Amino acid sequence: MARLGRPLPTPYLDPLLTLLRHLLATDPERFLVAVGSGPAGIGRSGEQIVGFGIAAQREHVWFLSQLYVLPHHQGRGIGRALLTQILPSVASAPPDATGTSAQTHPGVLAMCTDSAQPVSNALYARFGIVPRLPVFNLVGTPNPAALSRLPADVEAVPFAESDPAAAIDTVDRAILGYAHPADHAHLRATGRTGFLYRSNAGDTLGYGYSSEAGRFGPVALLDETLTAPVLGHLMTVVRPRGATTVWVPGANDRAMIAFLRAGLRIEGFPALLCWSRPFGGFERYLPASLALL
Ligand SMILES: CC(C)(COP(=O)(O)OP(=O)(O)OC[C@H]1O[C@@H](n2cnc3c(N)ncnc32)[C@H](O)[C@@H]1OP(=O)(O)O)[C@@H](O)C(=O)NCCC(=O)NCCS
Repeated sequence: MARLGRPLPTPYLDPLLTLLRHLLATDPERFLVAVGSGPAGIGRSGEQIVGFGIAAQREHVWFLSQLYVLPHHQGRGIGRALLTQILPSVASAPPDATGTSAQTHPGVLAMCTDSAQPVSNALYARFGIVPRLPVFNLVGTPNPAALSRLPADVEAVPFAESDPAAAIDTVDRAILGYAHPADHAHLRATGRTGFLYRSNAGDTLGYGYSSEAGRFGPVALLDETLTAPVLGHLMTVVRPRGATTVWVPGANDRAMIAFLRAGLRIEGFPALLCWSRPFGGFERYLPASLALL
C-alpha cells in the first residue's frame, strides 16, 4: 500500500486475528503459510513466515479470503504457489487449449481484490477467476431520516428472539447460492446484531446485520424494494460508537443510492469481485467483508 501511495491499513489487528482463527477452524486444509529463512533473530530457527494464503469452501463456492507475500519476497512465484495449493485440485491444473481449468471446474471460484493491485488481479484472472464487479467502501455517520421506513406489513425480528438458522439458510441459498451457518455464528460471536425481516403473514423476506463497531452487513433481501427501508431500520436500531463502514457491490444500486442519501461517502478505490462463473445475486446482497462474503 505504501508503494502505491495509499494509506496503510489499521494496525489494530484483533478483528483480523479473530477472522483468521475462524477460518483456521472451518478450513484448516486451506490455510497455508510460506516459510523462508529470515534475517537472524526473527524466529528461534531463523525461519520466517514470508506469505500466507487462506481460502474458505462453502458448499460449491470456494472463496479466497487472504493472499499476502512480504514485499521483498514478491515476484518470485510464492503467491502463485500458495494459491495453487489451496485451490481445489481440478482448478489448479494448468490451462489447456480449450480454456482454463477453473472454468471447467464444476464449482465457483471467487475472491475480492484491490483494484489498485494489478499483480493479484492478473494472477487470479490467469486461472479464470476474472474481476467482474466493483465493490465500493462507503464510510460516514448515516442519517436514517433520509430513508423510507419499513412498510407496516413488514416486521423486524431480532435474531436473539428467534432461532433464525433455517430461514437464514433459505435466504442465503436463494441469493448467494450457498448456505454458510458457521460464518453467521462467527458474525454474531464478533458483535454483529442481526434481524430477520418477515411479512405479517410470516414469510421470510431477508436478513440484515450491523454492529456497534460500525461494521454494516451482511444484508440479504429476497425483495430488493425493501433495500432502503431495511438499511434505514438497521441504521436506527444499531447505533455505532463511531463511523459506519460498509462494502456495497455496484450491482446493488438501491443500497448505493440509499447509503449516499443517508450521507455516507465513497472512500478510496473500489475492490473488485472476481469469479470463475456467475454466482450470487449481488443486486440484493451486501457482504460482511471482502475477506468472507
Ligand atoms: C498478490 C501477491 C500475493 C502475489 O504474490 P507474488 O509472490 O508476488 O506473486 P507471484 O510471483 O507468484 O506471481 C505474480 C504473477 O503476476 C504476474 N504479473 C505481475 N504484474 C503483472 C501485470 N501488471 N499484469 C499481468 N501479470 C502480472 C507475474 O508475471 C507473475 O505471473 P507468472 O507466475 O505467470 O510469471 C503479492 O504480490 C502481494 O502480497 N501483494 C500485496 C497484497 C495483495 O494485493 N494481496 C492480494 C489481496 S486479494
